[in-house]
Amino acid sequence: MVSRHGVDSSESTIWWTPAKVNLFLAVPAKRADGYHEIETLIVAVKLFDTLEFQVRPEPDVEFSCEWAAGIAAQINGCQNDRGRGVFGDDALPWDRLPASEQNLVWRTLQLFRQRAEVKQGARVRLVKRIPAAAGLGGASSDAATALVAANLAWRVGWSIEQLEEVAAEVGSDVPFFVRSQPAICRGRGEQMNWVKVPGGRPIVIVRPPGGLSTPEVFRNCNPGAEKTTTQDLIAALRQGDSAKIKQGLTNRLQPPAERLSDGVAKLMAALKRECGGSQMTGSGSSCFLIANHRRQARRMAARLRGQGWQAACSTLTTDHVEQC
Ligand code: C5P
Repeated sequence: MVSRHGVDSSESTIWWTPAKVNLFLAVPAKRADGYHEIETLIVAVKLFDTLEFQVRPEPDVEFSCEWAAGIAAQINGCQNDRGRGVFGDDALPWDRLPASEQNLVWRTLQLFRQRAEVKQGARVRLVKRIPAAAGLGGASSDAATALVAANLAWRVGWSIEQLEEVAAEVGSDVPFFVRSQPAICRGRGEQMNWVKVPGGRPIVIVRPPGGLSTPEVFRNCNPGAEKTTTQDLIAALRQGDSAKIKQGLTNRLQPPAERLSDGVAKLMAALKRECGGSQMTGSGSSCFLIANHRRQARRMAARLRGQGWQAACSTLTTDHVEQC
């Protein structure tokens, strides 16, 4: 049987969990509950963690997590020009990985076991390639994928909408990754409208040294209206109009991130010198460039690496489910 993201054997299922970029992120208002009202266009990208899920009869979740290195990280065109790990092996590990109980996957599975009154447990092994605290949604993607994997493996049989409700309790970005299809997300991020945008556009993801804390970036953000809309950007993406795509990229969290992180400010200055449209993703610290074609993306990434930045070529993906 082929699972939604991977191949399964009778013993365990392997799931590919994608990263994302926010092509548009407006923050119109602060809410009374401490969150911010957002409107964001999210698209998955071909940069994946891998999650292995195995049912065990014992009623607990045994969890392990490690950074991928070397050949394990060379997937789906994410390797760099020297054929090494996603952002270069020297870059690993980017961050210390959280202990089991603090990991979002572990917490999500415990919540789901309680809600669905599951008696069984699981052994979960996570192999990380998506940098943490980077605005790429790695932890949220892992959590959503664990939920989908558990729903199947534990034979709970909940609907995708029910899974999205549990996902929303875990974090604002988590519901998006239950389907990982391009979506405009509103509210605090959990209200999704799926949209059709073409996949396959090459991008270069660049991460400055150090991550950023999402609450801190939101705290330092000045909410307000944007000059462009998600619809302008979606139209530009559908037309493949590079100039309009460049104009349509928006991230209200970028100015506070640049104030909080010298690395983000310097990186954005470096990216603006390249010819593609550039922007920070989510609450940072990663930024990305949209290229017109793969050769241009490879050239941009090589130039940026020459300047000392960690840069990886990838693509926007709307069909990674079929391709894995
Ligand atoms: O929902 P999540 O746990 O991912 O959010 C982390 C923190 O980011 C929140 O506690 C909040 O401080 C901030 N946040 C926000 N507005 C959002 C999403 C997150 O202020 N829409």
